[in-house]
Amino acid sequence: MSSAELSVFIQALGVHAPARKLTNEELSSMVDTSDEWIKTRSGISERRIAAADENPSDMGAKAAAQALTRAGLTPADIDLLIVATMTPDVPFPSTACLLQAKLGLRRDIPCFDVSAACSGFVYALQVGTDMMRSGAYRHALVIGAEKLSSVVDWSDRTTCVLFGDGAGAAILATTSAKNVGVLGNLLGADGNNAELLHCAAGGSATPATPESIKAGKHLLRMNGKEVFRHAVRVMSESCERVLAKCGVKSEQVAWFIPHQANIRILEAVASQLNVSMDRFPSNLDRYGNTSAASIPLALEEAWRAGKIKHGDLVLIVAFGAGLTWGATLLRWHEPTR
Ligand code: UT7
Repeated sequence: MSSAELSVFIQALGVHAPARKLTNEELSSMVDTSDEWIKTRSGISERRIAAADENPSDMGAKAAAQALTRAGLTPADIDLLIVATMTPDVPFPSTACLLQAKLGLRRDIPCFDVSAACSGFVYALQVGTDMMRSGAYRHALVIGAEKLSSVVDWSDRTTCVLFGDGAGAAILATTSAKNVGVLGNLLGADGNNAELLHCAAGGSATPATPESIKAGKHLLRMNGKEVFRHAVRVMSESCERVLAKCGVKSEQVAWFIPHQANIRILEAVASQLNVSMDRFPSNLDRYGNTSAASIPLALEEAWRAGKIKHGDLVLIVAFGAGLTWGATLLRWHEPTR
């Protein structure tokens, strides 16, 4: 960061989770599974399911409205909107444009989606941070919003028990103070492993047809075991690399906020980093894997519980379909304190 560049920090967070809870017991009556299997293998007890007319742009707009209120800002104050989602309302236009209209944001601002699956929030945060460092934008909204229930195969017990819906929003702001907010980040991808977690049809290569829909090709497919193995490796390495880049030791990090995919993945990453699970807050039990929404949901919960305090080092880390991964180290900054 050059001395002329500004620091970018998260000024406020907001969340929205659909009201409908789907418990493991209910899932056990839909597919051959059990509360015991799901809890032991993933740490999930229940997840939220969006209503038919509750789309990522709606959930994202509600999360953003809460963040705006908490920041004491109005929609007119937002200069940039980035939405991370792998379940956009429609193939086009972007969910960001739909959300812009719902929130009543200004028309002279850039609004676009970032597609990096479960790493989407970390990717969007870096894009937003880099766009803001020069001072060209004063306040940005970075939102992760997902309706995974619409792409999950509800007859496939190996995937349907894992995912849920929701949204989280962060308002980014700038300050001339040094060593606060986003301190460092890294992103990576490996498209050679795209088939490990993907949706085979519905895009321009294979448009949805009655046959492809009948064959379930428009739904999420995953090689869970392989994804698990990659997840532990890339999340641990990403944490180590971003810490080394920033000259910070893992002991100095107050909170690790990982993508909430599976409690056993979180435990394995914590163990690799030699960090106690007490510093890895998780809400997996209540939300399952909400993809790009999972980090802002977990971050907001840890902040609301009073865990994250001004000056704390917070490391967020994610992996997802692509494969993609990313990590961001932040020094939590609350300028009004
Ligand atoms: O954001 C990224 C998204 N993806 C992930 O994070 C997924 C990463 N992977 C995982 O979380 C885990 O691999 C799973 C939770 C998906 C699976 O756990 P696992 O310990 O790797 O189980 P497994 O795939 O080895 O399956 C063990 C057994 C199999 O039966 P057999 O072959 O041993 O008879 C599965 O058929 O468990 C069976 N099984 C189930 N049984 C009851 C698979 N899913 C279920 C289920 N209920 N829902």
